[in-house]
Amino acid sequence: IEKDYDQLSKWAAEHVIERINKFNPTPDHKFVLGLPTGSSPIGMYRALAEACKEGRVSFKNVLTFNMDEYVGLPESHPESYHSFMAKNFFDHVDCPKENIHILNGNAEDLEAECAHYEQMIEEAGGIDLFIGGIGPDGHIAFNEPGSSLTSRTRQKTLTTDTIVANSRFFDNDVNKVPTTALTVGVGTVMSAREVMILVNGHNKTRALQAAVEGPVTQMWTISVLQLHQHGIIVADEAATDEL
Ligand code: GLP
Repeated sequence: IEKDYDQLSKWAAEHVIERINKFNPTPDHKFVLGLPTGSSPIGMYRALAEACKEGRVSFKNVLTFNMDEYVGLPESHPESYHSFMAKNFFDHVDCPKENIHILNGNAEDLEAECAHYEQMIEEAGGIDLFIGGIGPDGHIAFNEPGSSLTSRTRQKTLTTDTIVANSRFFDNDVNKVPTTALTVGVGTVMSAREVMILVNGHNKTRALQAAVEGPVTQMWTISVLQLHQHGIIVADEAATDEL
């Protein structure tokens, strides 16, 4: 538990830096990083970009796999997760383009796209560190309540709650929010060697309580982290009000 969002972001960034540097990646032995979107990781991304500029960390030998992407939103749309990642992270660090993987929500065959994504993760040797945020309903990536806890990458229909929550990025118009997304599964996240979840702000208090103090249930998909051997939740004080 960190005092505020700023401290949470710094803690998370330092953890990533430590993991990458300890691994000491090379062109033949790359570190594999799972990455989230959303407002929660923005401070961490900023701190990582700064550390990269200072030469404290490099992403040259880091492979990245993003968690999810909307279906049917053009990549160039300002709210696509492709655009988000470029703007908030990749444009500011030394990660080569060919190392970056983000699901293609405009693929002709979405099922094949998801299967191929899982295959690429496997070929990379699995994910060393998966970073995530959570929705107010406890969803991880786009694994909405009810998602199988062993699910892999697939297409999911967004719940009304998530569409309403995310409409703040689409001129507050729920009709502009895509209704489905491609997302890694709960099982995909759980297969990572380490998982770090960032939780900040008062609107996440119920989700954090369910995640930490509730039973493991597919109705709060983040609760499965209780079963991970190396699962970390980094929260700010505001998010812990219900603990
Ligand atoms: C979206 C993303 C999730 C993210 C969630 C919370 O639904 N698919 O990966 O965790 O938003 O976003 P925020 O961090 O903005 O609260």
